[in-house]
Amino acid sequence: MTLKISVIGTGYLGATHAACMSHLGFEVVGVDIDPAKIASLAAGTIPFYEPGLQELLQSELATGRLSFSSDLSAISDCDVHFICVGTPQVADGLAADLTYVFSSLNAIAPIIKPGSLVVGKSTVPVGTAAKMREQLLAINPDTDLAWNPEFLREGFAVEDTLKPNRLVVGVTNSKTEEILRQVYAKNLAEETPWVVADLPTAELVKVSANAFLATKISFINAMAEICEAAGGDVTVLAKAIGYDPRIGNRFLQAGIGFGGGCLPKDLRAFIARSKELGADQALEFLRDIDSINLRARTRMIELVRKDLSEDLRGKKIAVLGAAFKPDSDDVRDSPALDISAQIQAAGATVTVHDPKAISNAQKRFPALNYSDSIEECVKEADLVLHLTEWKLYREIDPVQLHSLVAQPIMIDGRNALDRDKWRAAGWKFRALGRSEN
Ligand code: UDX
Repeated sequence: MTLKISVIGTGYLGATHAACMSHLGFEVVGVDIDPAKIASLAAGTIPFYEPGLQELLQSELATGRLSFSSDLSAISDCDVHFICVGTPQVADGLAADLTYVFSSLNAIAPIIKPGSLVVGKSTVPVGTAAKMREQLLAINPDTDLAWNPEFLREGFAVEDTLKPNRLVVGVTNSKTEEILRQVYAKNLAEETPWVVADLPTAELVKVSANAFLATKISFINAMAEICEAAGGDVTVLAKAIGYDPRIGNRFLQAGIGFGGGCLPKDLRAFIARSKELGADQALEFLRDIDSINLRARTRMIELVRKDLSEDLRGKKIAVLGAAFKPDSDDVRDSPALDISAQIQAAGATVTVHDPKAISNAQKRFPALNYSDSIEECVKEADLVLHLTEWKLYREIDPVQLHSLVAQPIMIDGRNALDRDKWRAAGWKFRALGRSEN
C-alpha cells in the first residue's frame, strides 16, 4: 500500500517537504491557514526564493500527486501527517512560541483516521513531543505521534531534504518506526544513516546540532576579536586549524555572524528550556555564544567609525547584501540589515543592494534606501560594506567600482573578497579579524 501524506504548514520547511515527498512518489496534500500561501503554491509559485524548489514544485504538481488546500478536511484520508509549522521566539522572552504547533495538533487530532501517524518536524523545546502525543491520544486513541527533526539549510533545502546526511526518528514503539521506514525507504536504500531515538532525544538532536553550529561560528568570531587585538589574521588561523579533521574547516568563516530564522531563536529557546529543566548551568555558555554573535555587528560599526569618522552624520554608506546569507531572500534576524539600520540611525545615508532580498528587506526596514543595481548603490559612497557573501559580489571588478565611489574604502564583513585584488585597485580594504597590513 502506498502511503498518503499530509503536510501541515507550508512555509519554508513544509513547502519543501511536501514537494520532496511527492518527488519520492507519495500522494501529498499540503495545508495551511494562510489561503494566499496555498493559492500561490497550488499555482506553482513559491512565495520565497529557494534554488530549485519552484521547478520541483511545478513538476510535482504536474504529476497530479501533489496538491494544496486551505480546507483542513483534505487531510482526513492521509496515513502520515507531518507538522511543519513555525515556532518563532516569543515577543517577551527567549522561549519558543508553541501556539502553532499545538493549534495545528488540536485541529487535526479529531479528523485524522484511525491508524494514522502524526510526525513532528518543527523545532521544539524538549518535552513538547511527549506532551503532544498525550494530547493526541486523549482525543484520538488509535493514532500515534513521532518526531523527525529537519536539518535543511536555506539555499540547499531540496538537496538536504532529498539527500539528508542522516535521518533521525523519535519513536515510542516499533510499529511507528516501521511506518517511517516506509516513508524514507528510498533514503534507506541509499544507505542514509538512520538514527532511532526516544522522543526527547530526537527533539534535542535538532537544537544541539544548531547550538553546536552556532558555537563554531562564535568561536571563530571570538578568535577574530583576539586576532584584531594581537595583530593576527583570522582567515589564516581558520584555514590552519581547519586542516585538523577533528575540527574541520566548515562553519569557520569569521565575520558579522549568524542570523536567519533558525540559529538565533533556537539557541535562545534552548537556553530558556534548560532553565525550566533546572539545568541552566549546562547551557550558560550559549549566552556567550549569542553575545559574541551580536558583538560582531557592533564591531563592524566600530570599524566603520574608525575608517570613516566617529560622526557618521551626512556620510553615504553603500551596503552589499541584505539577506542573512547568500542564495536566500530571507532577512529574518539578518546581521546585514541590523548593521545597516544602526548605521542609518547614527545619521548616515545607507543604500542597500541585494540580488534577491530587497522586497523582504523593504518590508522590515522601510526607512533604508534600496537599489537593485550595484553601480547605483555605490555611487558617490564614502564607504562600501560587504555584508552578505553572494557570488556576484566576489565577481565585482574593484577597478570599475573605484571610479564610482566618493572614497574607495571597502569593509568586508564576511571575509570573502580577495583583499589583494581590492588593494591593488587602490582600495583601502578592511575586514573583521584581520590586521590592517
Ligand atoms: C541552519 C542549520 O544549518 C540547519 O541545519 C537548520 O536546519 C536550520 O538552521 P540556515 O539557517 O539555513 O540553517 O543557515 P546556515 O547555513 O546554517 O547559516 C546560518 C548563519 O550562519 C548565516 O547567517 C551564515 O551567514 C552564518 N555563518 C555560517 C557564518 O557566519 N559563518 C560560517 O562559517 C557559516
